[in-house]
Amino acid sequence: MQPRMKIIPNRCSTAGILRSETSRKSRLPLSLFMCGVLIFCAASSTALAQSGKEYKTMGAATCASSNCHGSVSPRNSTNVMQNEYTTWYKHGAHAQAYKVLANADSKRIGKHLGIGSPQSAPLCLECHATYVPDKSKRGRRYRLSDGVGCESCHGAAEAYLETHTAKTATHADNVKRGLIDLVSLETRAKICLDCHQGTDDRFVNHRLIGAGHPRLTYELDTYGILQPNHWEVDKDYVNRKAAYNPARAWMLGQLMRSAEMLATIASPKRSKQGALPDLSLFYCYNCHHSLKEDQWKSRGYGGRPGELHLNASSMLMVGLGLDVLNPALAESYNAGLKKLHSSYAAGSGVASAKSLRGVILKELVPAVNSTSFKSSVATGLLKKVVTYGANTPYLPYETAEQVAMAVSALSSATSGKGTQYSTLIDGIYDALADEEAFNASRFTSAMQKMKAKL
Ligand code: HEC
Ligand code: HEC
Ligand code: HEC
Ligand code: HEC
Repeated sequence: MQPRMKIIPNRCSTAGILRSETSRKSRLPLSLFMCGVLIFCAASSTALAQSGKEYKTMGAATCASSNCHGSVSPRNSTNVMQNEYTTWYKHGAHAQAYKVLANADSKRIGKHLGIGSPQSAPLCLECHATYVPDKSKRGRRYRLSDGVGCESCHGAAEAYLETHTAKTATHADNVKRGLIDLVSLETRAKICLDCHQGTDDRFVNHRLIGAGHPRLTYELDTYGILQPNHWEVDKDYVNRKAAYNPARAWMLGQLMRSAEMLATIASPKRSKQGALPDLSLFYCYNCHHSLKEDQWKSRGYGGRPGELHLNASSMLMVGLGLDVLNPALAESYNAGLKKLHSSYAAGSGVASAKSLRGVILKELVPAVNSTSFKSSVATGLLKKVVTYGANTPYLPYETAEQVAMAVSALSSATSGKGTQYSTLIDGIYDALADEEAFNASRFTSAMQKMKAKL
């Protein structure tokens, strides 16, 4: 395997894609229109979430006919674009997720872990395929080789496959038959995070990372676009389903990622490795840095030098968001976050993690759902995050990365849709391009340039 954390800079190819489409909204539809092949798309079902469990997973080939979701180019005859399979298959990482398990990196990871071939290891298949271990729940066209197929996100299709094409079928009807309601941004984030953060049954711990697996991160709006998305939020979509606002998606995505990170901290299965806490809970560069760096001299330690710091990147973003959206809630939330850090350092973080998670899911998510995200609110959020990034020297990489994704998501919800900032956002992503040689001062100065423009 290449040197340590080799795969992680891929994160920045993520940034690269994002960059090349800072006029984000336009790029994807455009590329969709350019790829016009008719394929056929059948859903494969995942036993993932809620309702899906009892239904059979049918396999992506089931959705792939050119009359269904396998058109080469978008069509106008129905509400949906009908080229979803083509987009998924040709342009996204998910259709490659199973194939990846046979590449040299995966083989080495498998060897280091002693699990044999990753393509037959449940540990890897849980996230790299629409994995249905129970063979009686697999439809005729179910294939592991689909990778992360349609049904990993949309739910096992057995019961909705036939009926969802009826002219009269509504989204709610489909949901009753096992389609997962991804229009709900909390549900959408949770589905993504089942793999992009993990659950008690599937987790990228420091052992997997040490064996060569990339570190995981996530932001709902950015990752949705990079997927790339295969739906268009046009008038018809808004009528049938709901409007989409990137600022709301950002806030709900950060809340859900925080909730899942807190669930990780609170989970006896994931938070420990033997006598030690699992090292993936912390900022990686708490440990992986040279003692010669100047950074440690001027970094703020919040009165806690020499301690491990929980990776609170998304939890910090939530605090910034609440400061703008609801200062009263922000105060109690920030107190809860502070308590998490101090009680964790004192050896008793589980209760604080559970309680903060409860606050997020029971109070903050509903509060954010009933907030309006008009463009002036998005501008307020953008200013808050940019000011934080510009005024906080030596941000850990994981936080800087969240700041960059926030800037990009939030600016696209402002009145100019962010196009006026595209060069500045490029500069921010450039400063993140090399994770191992991350130069925090360069990042800060890119943020200061952005701040000057707001
Ligand atoms: C908890 C879910 C999860 C598990 C378990 C998991 N992975 Fe992954 N893996 C991911 C995600 C998500 C990514 C993409 C990360 C990103 O780019 O943000 C990924 C990326 C990778 C990559 C990099 C792919 C690329 O295109 O460069 C390799 C290689 C990989 N995984 C191999 C494995 C192997 C081998 C196993 C089993 C030992 C495994 N994974 C287990 C979720 C998981
Ligand atoms: C990684 C998760 C994921 C995968 C994999 C995925 N989708 Fe989606 N899909 C979404 C999300 C999120 C939406 C937007 C929410 C919605 O409209 O339901 C969506 C929306 C759609 C829509 C709705 C478009 C509309 O205008 O109402 C269709 C149709 C669709 N997907 C088909 C597919 C097909 C077919 C596949 C497999 C080839 C697939 N999806 C794979 C996440 C996924
Ligand atoms: C069943 C597990 C699973 C689910 C559910 C899932 N993903 Fe993934 N995702 C993966 C894996 C595994 C990879 C890496 C695949 C590869 O590199 O070949 C990946 C890769 C990605 C990438 C590419 C990242 C990069 O570095 O280029 C994006 C973007 C992404 N996922 C977005 C999403 C979004 C958005 C959702 C939810 C709507 C979602 N994913 C749901 C498993 C999943
Ligand atoms: C508490 C300190 C600590 C934290 C936090 C930590 N690591 Fe490690 N890491 C280690 C130690 C110790 C080793 C194994 C010793 C060694 O071989 O250098 C290691 C090994 C590794 C390796 C294997 C290469 C090697 O040098 O053995 C990788 C890759 C790695 N860590 C990545 C990460 C990533 C990514 C994160 C954040 C998600 C992280 N680490 C968080 C201490 C840490």
